[in-house]
Amino acid sequence: MKLSADDKHNVKAIWEHVKGHEEAIGAEALCRMFTSLPTTRTYFPTKDIKEGSSFLHSHGKKVMGALSNAVAHIDDIDGALSKLSDKHAEELMVDPANFPKLAHNILVVLGIHLKPHLTYSVHSSVDKFLATVGYVLASKYR
Ligand code: HEM
Repeated sequence: MKLSADDKHNVKAIWEHVKGHEEAIGAEALCRMFTSLPTTRTYFPTKDIKEGSSFLHSHGKKVMGALSNAVAHIDDIDGALSKLSDKHAEELMVDPANFPKLAHNILVVLGIHLKPHLTYSVHSSVDKFLATVGYVLASKYR
């Protein structure tokens, strides 16, 4: 999926409001994913993924940090996420069907907390950006 110049502008604009809230946004998105799609919990068998847990917060921060890195390198998302893509494909072996599920929950959280900034066009651009990230993360499976 190709991001247009407007998409890149829109994603960078809303990300200015994500900055500083990565941990809270990531933790809520993960918690919503684990609740609405319990099969995703199976990838975290030894972790405490209850609402408010320290793991949920630290992992949420890592996930959103990776997305912030992708936003910072929006012209080279493949390069920015290359190592993460190896990890999800070769080590974690996460079913790629799950990437859109997390993307959906991230978008829901942005809609709840950043509603005034999530105009229809920004919504569409963030959706495309997250789909691109999912595509990149799924690109190393063999
Ligand atoms: C680990 C990002 C989707 C399962 C990670 C890490 C990051 C990350 C940054 C830490 C890597 C490290 O410590 O080296 C992302 C992003 C995603 C995504 C940006 C999509 C937007 C998913 C999905 C699942 C998943 C959908 C499964 C349902 C895992 C697991 C780990 C992990 C099991 C290892 C956790 C641990 O043992 O601490 N991910 N991830 N990821 N991810 Fe993802």
